[in-house]
Amino acid sequence: MTLVFFGATGHLFTRKIFPALASFPSGDLENLSILAIGRRFTTQSEYINFLSTLHPNAGAILKQIEYLQADAREEDFLSKLTPHLNTQEVLFYLATLPSVYPDILKQIHRWRVNTPTGSIRIALEKPFGQDATSFVELEKNLQNTFPEEEIFYVDHYLGKSTVLSLIVLKAENLFMEKLLSREYLQEVRIAVCETEGVEEREAFYEETGAIRDIFQNHILQLLTLFAIDIPPLCEEDKRECQRFQQKVAEEKVRLLEMVRLPEAQKIFLGQYEGYRQEVNNSHSHTETLVSTTLFIDSPRWRNVPFRILTGKKMAEKRSFIEAVFHSVVPSPNRLSIEIQPEERIDLFINVKTPSMDFASTMAKLNFSYFGTFGAKSPEAYQKILYDFIHRDRTLFPNSRFIRQSWKITDELRQKIEQHKIIPTPYPPHTLRAEDFFILNQSERNPG
Ligand SMILES: NC(=O)c1ccc[n+]([C@@H]2O[C@H](COP(=O)([O-])OP(=O)(O)OC[C@H]3O[C@@H](n4cnc5c(N)ncnc54)[C@H](OP(=O)(O)O)[C@@H]3O)[C@@H](O)[C@H]2O)c1
Repeated sequence: MTLVFFGATGHLFTRKIFPALASFPSGDLENLSILAIGRRFTTQSEYINFLSTLHPNAGAILKQIEYLQADAREEDFLSKLTPHLNTQEVLFYLATLPSVYPDILKQIHRWRVNTPTGSIRIALEKPFGQDATSFVELEKNLQNTFPEEEIFYVDHYLGKSTVLSLIVLKAENLFMEKLLSREYLQEVRIAVCETEGVEEREAFYEETGAIRDIFQNHILQLLTLFAIDIPPLCEEDKRECQRFQQKVAEEKVRLLEMVRLPEAQKIFLGQYEGYRQEVNNSHSHTETLVSTTLFIDSPRWRNVPFRILTGKKMAEKRSFIEAVFHSVVPSPNRLSIEIQPEERIDLFINVKTPSMDFASTMAKLNFSYFGTFGAKSPEAYQKILYDFIHRDRTLFPNSRFIRQSWKITDELRQKIEQHKIIPTPYPPHTLRAEDFFILNQSERNPG
């Protein structure tokens, strides 16, 4: 098997993908040749020096990497690439800017037409278009040359362990599956809060904004994984597992089709102070924060508000899903699934304090990956690569999901435009998720 990385000199490959490759247990990638394609280095040793300076403890994986200097837009690209490819199974990972994708895909197609080959797979990094129309364009482009089963759209957020554990939590804890419904829940909160600003991605971000950058993919992925009816999980039977993956994918799309957007008054946009100077546009109306509420018109979720928040330059880096239960007391029970930076599941319950009366307080039943297993779970990209290599599609959105998520995103953006909702400035590093999902004091810092 050959794993070919386009964009192997870029930010994503060197900061995220390569460390994930390096952290595979020794032997796991033994039978794999890795071909790294970039333009800026001429020789193998220059490239390996560059990687090993960035990652001094990378170890044996460096010996497995072969570097190829090649430009996908040049005529002689294919003649440079072909000698490096195994004809049995080739996996292409596109970690370049999306504007280069069409050229790379054309080259892969040309190679394939001329080479009797076993199987290929192609992984693409987001963004998958800028709206439903441009995604359909990309999809058409792909479908003309590659069948859908060869395409893997990457949303690395789904490789995070707590996101995965959502599946197990629901599939293997029947009481949880039953409790997560309108009968027991008053609302669900989903937050992806970042402390970073736009950093070097100014031009990209100014065109994109928080709704397209995070809401369209990570938030809608989290929402669907949390809200779908999960079929029973199986581990051994391969065929069953494929059916499981397919069922999860279908359920996610079905659920997205039932998502209802809120009235315009329930949409709040923010822009951190200083953003306009960073992107050099004194009139920018690009949102760096969005807070809104969605509903899912299904029997399980009808009228349960799904409160959504994502923002840059917030006071803390924190992503979570929280289910808030109906309650007879002012502090409702909550199930909190923390995705990052800590991977935890907390259940907040009311307990009696050590007193003579019935005084109560909120306490936390806690599970943390590190606390329980004494080890950090694999990095998201390790899981993504593992599944890509093993052809497991559970964590890769299919094109129907992406199309539907763009449809919702486009409708949300149209509503914003129609109602002329513009971002409110906020001071950097001051806002917390709690400021949007108001909790009373006793809930804030339970012991
Ligand atoms: N950075 C992240 O954390 C992140 C997170 C999620 C998704 N993504 C997505 O991942 C993709 C890559 O992002 P990035 O931040 O890594 O970008 P980047 O740092 O600008 O890297 C782009 C890479 O593409 C290569 N490249 C450009 N044109 C090429 C061509 N014609 N032929 C062959 N190679 C070419 C560059 O090679 P040379 O530089 O050697 O010329 C470089 O290796 C984007 O789609 C981005 O949206 C990035």
